[in-house]
Amino acid sequence: MSAECQDEAWARPSAQSLRELVDLEAGRISPRIFWDESIYRLELERIFARCWIFVAHESQVKLPGDFLTTTIGEDGVIVARGADDQVRVLLNACPHRGNRVCFAEAGNARRFTCNYHGWSFGRDGALLGMPAEEVYEQTCPGFDKSELGLVQARVASYKGLIFATFDPGAPSLDDFLGDYRWYLDVLLDTDEGGTEFLPGNIKSVIDCNWKVPAENFVGDSLHAQWTHNSGAVAMLGTGVGKAKQDSVYQANANGHGMQFGFDMVGNAMTLGEPEVVQYIREREALVAERLGKLRSRMVGAMGSATLFPTFSFLAGLNTVRTWNPRGPHRTELHTWVIVNRDAPSSIKEKYRRGVMRTFSPSGTLEMDDGENWENVTRTAAGVVARRQKLHYALGLRSQVQHEELPGNVHQRKFNDSNQRAFFGRWLDLLAAEDWSQVPGGR
Ligand code: FES
Ligand SMILES: [Fe+2]
Repeated sequence: MSAECQDEAWARPSAQSLRELVDLEAGRISPRIFWDESIYRLELERIFARCWIFVAHESQVKLPGDFLTTTIGEDGVIVARGADDQVRVLLNACPHRGNRVCFAEAGNARRFTCNYHGWSFGRDGALLGMPAEEVYEQTCPGFDKSELGLVQARVASYKGLIFATFDPGAPSLDDFLGDYRWYLDVLLDTDEGGTEFLPGNIKSVIDCNWKVPAENFVGDSLHAQWTHNSGAVAMLGTGVGKAKQDSVYQANANGHGMQFGFDMVGNAMTLGEPEVVQYIREREALVAERLGKLRSRMVGAMGSATLFPTFSFLAGLNTVRTWNPRGPHRTELHTWVIVNRDAPSSIKEKYRRGVMRTFSPSGTLEMDDGENWENVTRTAAGVVARRQKLHYALGLRSQVQHEELPGNVHQRKFNDSNQRAFFGRWLDLLAAEDWSQVPGGR
C-alpha cells in the first residue's frame, strides 16, 4: 500500500471521475474542481507533494544562516543556507510532537529550536540536542539522534529561483521545466548579473480556489480589456491597449504557460514610470545579443505567465507571485518585485513604486481581479451551477508551428490553449499513482 493510500478518511476521486470533469477535447470544465474538498485533498498529495514548487529566490538567502519560511501546499518549510553554502529545504514540523519549529518569516540563525520541549536543529536539519538528552539515551531503546532530524526536500535551482520537491521520484527540475526555460529566461536572464528580489514580501488572502488566479495568469488576456479597463483609464488616462489578435501568442510546456506579444513595453508602460520604459528600450540590443531578437521584444511586452502550479509573473511589470493553497476556497498570495541585480538603484525603486501602484493588494489592477476570482469560486458551491460545464474552448484550432518559439504554440490573442494545457497537466498528475504514470514524467 502506498503512503498516500493509507490516508483514506476521505473519498478519493477516481481517475475516471476526474476525466469526466475536465474535457479538454471539447474545452469544457466542471466548476466542481474549484470547490470540492476531496479534489483539493488529492491536489495536496499529487500536485503539491509531487511537483517542484518555487520556495525562494537565491537573493533572499544569500549568506550562511539566512533563512525564510514558506509553504509547499499546506506543509510549512524552512529554506535555509547552511555553513557549507548549500540551500536546504526542511519541513517546518518537529519530529518530536509536531510543533512548528520556526515561527519567524525570515532572518539569520545558527540553529532552529522548537518552542515546545526544546529540541534543537541545525541549518542542515540535523537534530543537535534536546533537554534531558541522557534520559532519552537511557530509556528509549535504539535511540538515535541522527534519525530524528527535520524531513528534507530535494532542492534545485534555475537562474536564481529555488525549487523543492518532497517526491524522490520526481523528474529533474530541468525536465520539469522543459521548454518553458526558454520563456523563463525573458524574466531571469536578460542581464549578466542575473536577478534579485527587492526586500519585502507582501502577503494577502483571497477567498478563491488557487487554480482560479493560476489559470488567469497562464493566459487569460481576454479579461484584461474588460476587468482592468476602468483601472487603466483612471491610472494612465487611457484604456487597456488593444493589440491585434494575430500579434499575440500563447505557448505552453508541461502545463507551464505564457501569453505574450512582441511590443516590448506594453506591460512596462502600465507601471506609470517612464524611466523604466526607457531602461528597457535602452537595453534592447544587449538583450538581443543574449537571448536573440525575438525575446528582446518580449522583455516588457504585454502578457502574463504561470509556471505550474502556482508561480506566476508579469514580465515588464516585474511582479512575481505565488498562489498558496489554504483550503479549497482560500488562497494566500505572496508577491515580490524582481529586478536585474545590476540595474541602477533608481530604476529598482521605480519598479517597486510602479508595482505597488498596480499589482500589490492595494494596487489598482490587482484589486480588479480578486472579486471576480472569489465569485468564480463561490458560485461553484451551487447545485445547479455545478451542473454546467465552463467554457474553455477558445482557440481549439489555433495551434501553429513557429520556427523559434518552443513548446506548444498558439496564435491569436484571445485563446484558452494555455488554460487547457494547465488543466491537462493538472489532470495527468491527479490521475497518476506516481510520476511514472505522468505523461513525460520520466
Ligand atoms: S514538539 Fe518540538 S520539542 Fe517537542
Ligand atoms: Fe487581471
